[in-house]
Amino acid sequence: MTRILRGPLLRFRADPFTSGAEAALGWHEDGAVAVAGERIITVGDAPDVISAHPGAEVASTGGRLIAPGFVDCHLHYPQTRIVASWGAQLLDWLNTYTFPEEARFADAEYAAEVAREFFDLTLANGITTTCSYCTTHPTSSDAYFTEAQARRLRVAGGRTMMDRNAPPDLCDTAQRAYDESKALIARWHGRARATYAITPRFVPTSTPAQLEAAGALWAEHPDCPMQTHLSENPSEIGLVKQLFPDEPDYFGVYQRFGLTGPGSIFGHAIHLTPRERAALAETGAAVAHCPTSNQFLGSGECDVAGLKASGVPIGLATDVGGGSSFSMFDTMKAAYETGQRRGVALSPVHLWWLATEGSARVLRIEQEVGNLEAGREADLVLIDLAATPILAARTARAQTAAEIMFALIVLADERAVSEVWSGGRMVHARGAVR
Ligand code: GUN
Ligand code: ZN
Repeated sequence: MTRILRGPLLRFRADPFTSGAEAALGWHEDGAVAVAGERIITVGDAPDVISAHPGAEVASTGGRLIAPGFVDCHLHYPQTRIVASWGAQLLDWLNTYTFPEEARFADAEYAAEVAREFFDLTLANGITTTCSYCTTHPTSSDAYFTEAQARRLRVAGGRTMMDRNAPPDLCDTAQRAYDESKALIARWHGRARATYAITPRFVPTSTPAQLEAAGALWAEHPDCPMQTHLSENPSEIGLVKQLFPDEPDYFGVYQRFGLTGPGSIFGHAIHLTPRERAALAETGAAVAHCPTSNQFLGSGECDVAGLKASGVPIGLATDVGGGSSFSMFDTMKAAYETGQRRGVALSPVHLWWLATEGSARVLRIEQEVGNLEAGREADLVLIDLAATPILAARTARAQTAAEIMFALIVLADERAVSEVWSGGRMVHARGAVR
């Protein structure tokens, strides 16, 4: 049966970084999306969509904006309960807050409980796809994928590989990381809507043998994404230099072990040398921009516009729990503010594209999600433009679609996320009892 949702609608016609904001934005005052089963079959102006599907059931959104579900291309579900940890930069923050919490995920029940909490939070914020780091324990990956599958979400993620410079109970070995990751790929990759991401945490926590094992595993499973961290913090970069004095730089270590190329995703990528910037672009590596985290941990500012202009795919990410918010509105706002500090004002179309289609491209799932387009899965959000008094006042005064989008970026929170659909089914309704 075909169902049609009718209301103001936001989608993208192109990449705004190459086409410009105006050409990239598809805005329909009276729009509609027709959904059959899991997928979108038609999108456009309501009269056209309705006449293309006579007999379909038509539901009005009551003025709520129909938009693509947000895609978060880098975060850590095991860090859900350590969001808002005070006073530390990256390496101290990992040792003080992160590793002790991640150690708890040896307990399958604890992992399952946090996975439920995590997806409640992401869905409440309109994030329909996440790409998460799990802990070194295979139980934590199982909990993540099991919960996602119970909710029928499209997700990516993987077991963190880490065999040094972390507490013994969190460390694996090169061989165990390889074996357990390979078993998880067999169990989860391509099952229902799951993608397995090969996940060496970052250079400081892997021996050369483990990085080599990660490279070998990725060579055997090239359709899996490979995610890790790159040049987030100056002390971290100093440590990498100490551990690998013969490599030209941080990215060079990943290059040496076959961990770069299409499908690789580097979180942060802030303090890059000119060689690293060129190598990122040449190899086809992608970047996950984590602006709330970069601010919160005092890491620095990613040059989004510069990297994107050199051809590096970029997506937007909350990086919870280094990131301070599960909200993609907060994250887009932080990306805007990061740009402002660098003298670059990213338009609301650019910001929103990064949080949807941009992230989907980074994960190489843009055939499935990231935009409202015929053939893609019906992952979408209904946004209440009048969720709070200030939002109502500001959106009522907006003259253009871009003004409405920017008002949402700056002023909206989860109160504006009224309804969330995944694969053609409603998976969250604000205020509904679960
Ligand atoms: N680098 C290595 N691990 C982490 C992590 O968990 N969070 C952040 N923000 N950076 C990292
Ligand atoms: Zn991270």
